Amino acid sequence: MDPILSNSAIYVTLTLLTIFSSFNIEGVSGAGFTVINRCGHTVWPGILANAGSPAMDSTGFELPPGASRSFQSPPNWSGRFWGRSGCTFDPVSGQGSCLTGDCSTNQIECNGNNANPPTTLAEFTIVSGSQDFYDVSLVDGYNLPMIVEPSGGVGSCLSTGCITDLNQQCPAELRVGSGEACKSACEAFGSPEYCCSGAYRTPDTCKPSFYSQMFKAACPRSYSYAYDDATSTFTCTGADYAITFCPSLTSQKSARDTSQTPSTNGSEAGSGDGLNSSWLSNIFSGDSSTTLSSSAWPFTLIVSAISSLFLSFLYL
Ligand SMILES: *[C@@H]1O[C@H](CO)[C@@H](O)[C@H](O)[C@H]1NC(C)=O
Ligand SMILES: *[C@@H]1O[C@H](CO)[C@@H](O)[C@H](O)[C@H]1NC(C)=O
Ligand SMILES: *[C@@H]1O[C@H](CO)[C@@H](O)[C@H](O)[C@H]1NC(C)=O
Repeated sequence: MDPILSNSAIYVTLTLLTIFSSFNIEGVSGAGFTVINRCGHTVWPGILANAGSPAMDSTGFELPPGASRSFQSPPNWSGRFWGRSGCTFDPVSGQGSCLTGDCSTNQIECNGNNANPPTTLAEFTIVSGSQDFYDVSLVDGYNLPMIVEPSGGVGSCLSTGCITDLNQQCPAELRVGSGEACKSACEAFGSPEYCCSGAYRTPDTCKPSFYSQMFKAACPRSYSYAYDDATSTFTCTGADYAITFCPSLTSQKSARDTSQTPSTNGSEAGSGDGLNSSWLSNIFSGDSSTTLSSSAWPFTLIVSAISSLFLSFLYL
């Protein structure tokens, strides 16, 4: 064959490979986040970057039922996502507020303001070229069911979150309004014992309470009190993350079924790996298991690299 043609075929292949692999190098562009609303009602997500991290493209937006929106984080980023419910924003002035998760800006963007508790929080520390840390926290209470599912990463990369509708199980003394949110014991009673403050400010002195244990039983992978790290912080390298409000009940069932077999530890009745993580992982592998798809992704790259090299040699 024409040597110029074959040379350019190799050149094109190598260029494509370079482009593809740079996508896969952790940290070149940070993590991708996709926020998904599976609730039967609109959710107004809020995003707060921690001090020193730049803001994402939005700090607050409207997400109708079934809708999703994606963000790309900078290489190193830490911050939190939450959902606001029961919001009304004036279509003309844009002013308004929310029943839960409100961030006191009187508008749809949260502009660096935090969520007013009680709010279910998804917290992330994205580290370029190294392990990310993520968790779903009920330390500031609960307002919406939420799950975080990594995809395409390397490591244990378990899903975490709280699928259970804790609002329905919320004890009267923690209930907000007509049951649209559930306070943490710290917020409801303000005592050092529940808040892990004062004499109780160390992991040794601040123990799970009756209330935090109730949260933990309902949502085993979520932070139920400040020092719940051991069973609530998860790691993954180079992943993208789907954050879903109101993951479905059928998903919850499959989570229970699958999480028992490959169980790491203590994660039974999980808020689930093996959860129907449709979305991103299905796009890449047609598989609903996050763990599988994360190992499958580099493999797919290698296979496609080899096959494209092979193809280009056919032209020689
Ligand atoms: C991100 O953080 C890691 C670890 O702290 C550091 O090595 C790296 O240089 C940082 N990257 C950027 C782009 O700031
Ligand atoms: C799992 O974790 C629990 C505490 O959460 C601990 O008591 C138990 O020993 C652990 N089991 C294994 C197999 O690591
Ligand atoms: C995952 O959910 C989709 C619809 O959202 C469904 O079609 C599919 O069968 C589900 N897969 C599993 C394994 O439950």
